[in-house]
Amino acid sequence: MTIGITGASGPFGRTTAEFVLQRVDPREVMLATRTPAALADLAARGAQVRRADFDAPGSLAAALKGVDRLLLVSTDKVGARLERHRAAVAAAKEAGVAHVVYTSVPEPLPGNPALVVDDHAGTEQALRHSGLRWTMLRNNLYAHLQLGAVENAAATGRLVTNHGPGAAAYVTREDCAAVAAAVLTKDGYEDQVLDVTGPAAITSRDLAALAQELGDRDVEVVEVDDQTLAGALRAAGLNEPAAELVTSFGAATRGGYLDHVSDAVSTLTGRTPTPFAEVVRQALGAR
Ligand SMILES: NC(=O)c1ccc[n+]([C@@H]2O[C@H](COP(=O)([O-])OP(=O)(O)OC[C@H]3O[C@@H](n4cnc5c(N)ncnc54)[C@H](OP(=O)(O)O)[C@@H]3O)[C@@H](O)[C@H]2O)c1
Repeated sequence: MTIGITGASGPFGRTTAEFVLQRVDPREVMLATRTPAALADLAARGAQVRRADFDAPGSLAAALKGVDRLLLVSTDKVGARLERHRAAVAAAKEAGVAHVVYTSVPEPLPGNPALVVDDHAGTEQALRHSGLRWTMLRNNLYAHLQLGAVENAAATGRLVTNHGPGAAAYVTREDCAAVAAAVLTKDGYEDQVLDVTGPAAITSRDLAALAQELGDRDVEVVEVDDQTLAGALRAAGLNEPAAELVTSFGAATRGGYLDHVSDAVSTLTGRTPTPFAEVVRQALGAR
């Protein structure tokens, strides 16, 4: 069986590829990327490396030829990627891929304000209607993306947030990649939706407590509305789309769309999912 990974030179794709290569014959691994040179080291270990770009959909079916099970890594072009993802699903079908594993988001439902929801819901729908077998990996928010907020709170004594009493089950990218590799290399996960989360749901107060420990000072939680948060993020230097995206994830956290904790990491991989506090202490504690 040949396992394929798109976006294989991105951090998530590459980490998944490393896990997969620990388990299967490298000749049965096909890594697709816009930049094959970035994967020269994995090609040297025997993996097949091919060029594939969702922005050039005409070339995708040829790139995916011979692949049985494919990890389709969602791209980073939020709001402009759904047509590309649909083209990739169609190309997988044309190429004879049997099973597509897709990196989605928790609860991609109407009402979830996270700005990524439409892209993921549309791609999930395309997969469900494709006739292919599928697995949805609904990865929670990456833990490392919260480090800036904790660091800033430690420095200023204020955690400005629109989370309200909500919580999110932040998960490390490496744990997500380990789950993806397990689904790719083991049978039995066809037509399943897997919530991939950290071991606990983290509130703003938890973030503030970690900032307090880190900065060795009191940290106040300052609750603001979405507009105020987006303005504060822009004032701190984020561009408009990034500020809107972060604000929308805060609103999704407040709305309870990210607080479900699953045991997928331990069940599928045997790893203990990394606690958020450990991510913070490892990244920021030693400075
Ligand atoms: N759960 C979260 O908190 C979270 C956070 C950020 C992102 N994500 C999602 O998870 C994905 C992987 O994350 P990451 O950490 O590796 O972040 P990343 O650095 O944003 O990775 C971008 C990925 O998109 C691929 N890509 C971009 N344009 C493409 C195109 N035209 N055709 C095919 N592939 C294309 C890249 O592949 P190549 O460069 O190899 O072609 C790479 O795998 C992201 O793309 C995003 O959809 C999730």
